[in-house]
Amino acid sequence: MRRVLHNAFPATGTIRQLRPSDHARFQDHLLRLDAESRRDRFNGLTDDAFVRTYADRCFHDGTTVIGFVDDECHVRGAAEIHERPEEHDPTAEIAFSVEKHLQHRGLGGFLFERLIGHAYALGYEKLLVTTHPQNQAMKALARRFNARLSFDCGETVGVIELRPDRENFVPFWAHHGVHPYVAHE
Ligand SMILES: CC(C)(COP(=O)(O)OP(=O)(O)OC[C@H]1O[C@@H](n2cnc3c(N)ncnc32)[C@H](O)[C@@H]1OP(=O)(O)O)[C@@H](O)C(=O)NCCC(=O)NCCS
Repeated sequence: MRRVLHNAFPATGTIRQLRPSDHARFQDHLLRLDAESRRDRFNGLTDDAFVRTYADRCFHDGTTVIGFVDDECHVRGAAEIHERPEEHDPTAEIAFSVEKHLQHRGLGGFLFERLIGHAYALGYEKLLVTTHPQNQAMKALARRFNARLSFDCGETVGVIELRPDRENFVPFWAHHGVHPYVAHE
């Protein structure tokens, strides 16, 4: 869906899942983050080599990356879903990045909304988001999506429980009053 962001810089673009061919665009987006945003995104200091390797890994380890792609085909914002296979319930760690000139204009919220849809589609039941306690934007964003925030060892950890909505999870055959096995007999 095409999105229009308002405020000082009008910006239009599309929020969509990134394709394998978007790898370099995603990498360039992360490299363009200003120093503060990059520190906030990676919870510490990182050099360009780290960021390049990180972007490569995302495109090779099954990470889902959703991007805001502007009209010039640049990725300007991203939301990532990283599986945490060690957790008992289907769980993923999520992360967000929006380039400075587009921050505080609602893009983070749009990306979050889309990410929740993908997370449901992938069957995750729990999402984790980690940031530092001073990251007011991320904390506000997480709260808006009902994250339970806790503070641990200098980090803020947000937990979002994805409760299957019964309405949306009624299997298609139930609407027709048949059981699938009966229907195939
Ligand atoms: C966190 C981030 C993704 C938010 O994106 P955004 O496009 O600026 O977010 P939005 O405009 O949708 O605003 C989201 C909320 O944060 C609040 N907010 C945005 N910038 C803020 C700021 N500088 N200080 C305080 N609150 C801020 C907004 O008011 C909004 O709150 P609301 O839901 O109560 O209205 C973006 O700031 C960013 O990329 N930061 C650097 C990377 C980072 O910190 N990533 C998170 C860790 S993974």
